Amino acid sequence: MSNKPLNGIKIIDFTHVQAGPACTQMLAWFGADVIKVERPGAGDVTRTQLRDIPNVDALYFTMLNSNKRSLSLDTKKPEGKAILEKLIKESDVLVENFGPGALDRMGFSWERIQELNPKLILASVKGFSDGHHYEDLKVYENVAQCAGGAASTTGWWKGEQAGPMISSAALGDSNTGMHLAIGILTAYIGRLQTGKGQKVAVAMQDAVLNLCRVKMRDQLRLEKLGYLEEYPQYPHESFSDVVPRGGNAGGGGQPGWILKCKGWETDPNAYIYFTVQGHAWEPICDALGKPEWKTDPAYTTPKARQPHITDIFAAIEDWLKDKTKFEAVDILRKFDIPCAPVLSMKELLNDESLRKSGSIVEVPHKERGSYFTVGSPIKFSDLKPEITGSPLLGEHTDEVLADLGYTPEQIKALHAAQAV
Ligand code: COA
Repeated sequence: MSNKPLNGIKIIDFTHVQAGPACTQMLAWFGADVIKVERPGAGDVTRTQLRDIPNVDALYFTMLNSNKRSLSLDTKKPEGKAILEKLIKESDVLVENFGPGALDRMGFSWERIQELNPKLILASVKGFSDGHHYEDLKVYENVAQCAGGAASTTGWWKGEQAGPMISSAALGDSNTGMHLAIGILTAYIGRLQTGKGQKVAVAMQDAVLNLCRVKMRDQLRLEKLGYLEEYPQYPHESFSDVVPRGGNAGGGGQPGWILKCKGWETDPNAYIYFTVQGHAWEPICDALGKPEWKTDPAYTTPKARQPHITDIFAAIEDWLKDKTKFEAVDILRKFDIPCAPVLSMKELLNDESLRKSGSIVEVPHKERGSYFTVGSPIKFSDLKPEITGSPLLGEHTDEVLADLGYTPEQIKALHAAQAV
């Protein structure tokens, strides 16, 4: 195995579905030995959810569990518990995202884990933080998006589609996993200094809220000012006492919107995102062939433009109507205008630049042949993560048990007892 920064770190991956597996997968890419512990005969529920090929691990599983080893283990049986205890004694990190209290019920409370291995880092994802009035709730992605402020600030504020909206990005799941990975590495560096493990926890609500920081900023500004200039409600509509949903507004320092391009009538993604960056107003006028806007006092400053920003976007859309999204971006990039085409998953999957950079990779799998997956979004100058296929259920059980010192006879007996 080539040398990777996290080589030598042994992680018990007691995670399932998406939030936990996304975290441990990333640590595995960077060299950690990640042993996924799964219930014998069943495994992570995503192995069978949303299957595209009968009796083969679903992409839901394969795309979140690459570079790991799989140990099937019934941790509710005494033999299984004994194996987990041995593993805990030899590992650096245990990551879990069970429902509240499940690990305690299994007999592996934080106190017990510390008795077994005071150096172990216990990393958990839960829906809500310890002591929160909802701490007992089980949580999935969309629940977290609602609880963390994303849903109330996403979507349309008027018309038939008005109402809170869920994002397709996994703000609750994978995002929480990424936060947890930062927590684990921080605790690991802390352990190098103190020699002691610690408990690291990330609540999905908190991880979503952390990404909605700018919306909390807007709430605080709204309470001071009574209005938010960069929202589409300004200045013609009224504001209530909560941050409104802004449709496709930029929500930052510069207005932006999703605009139709040639072919939008039949292509659901024939759009670009266009940003009216304050200091780029003159290049925008040049790109659109509207030199008269450069000196018109109704357009020269962001404040002057805001009351008719919708008309400005309509004029840009008019300019776009005979250009595809790619043609439009090729023109606008010459004027240094922040913009991008709205890309479909099909376009991303086939994007040559993403393939070249390793952001989309094709990896082998023992049963499905090969599959495409999303590679590491983090690029290093001295590390190129090699993404390998996900393990079959229990593929490494015997190997892990042998590493723990079990003899072939003992391993046979454990299989017979259905403990592994
Ligand atoms: N051997 C024996 N038992 C095992 C086992 C194994 N290898 N692995 C898990 N189990 C048991 C657990 O001990 C637990 O049993 P218990 O409830 O009798 O104590 C059970 O399987 C798992 O329970 P739970 O995690 O609550 O599963 P669920 O399917 O009911 O709920 C979630 C799924 C995701 C809602 C829940 O796990 C959760 O809220 N997790 C925290 C938040 C989270 O990560 N959500 C996002 C997931 S993407």
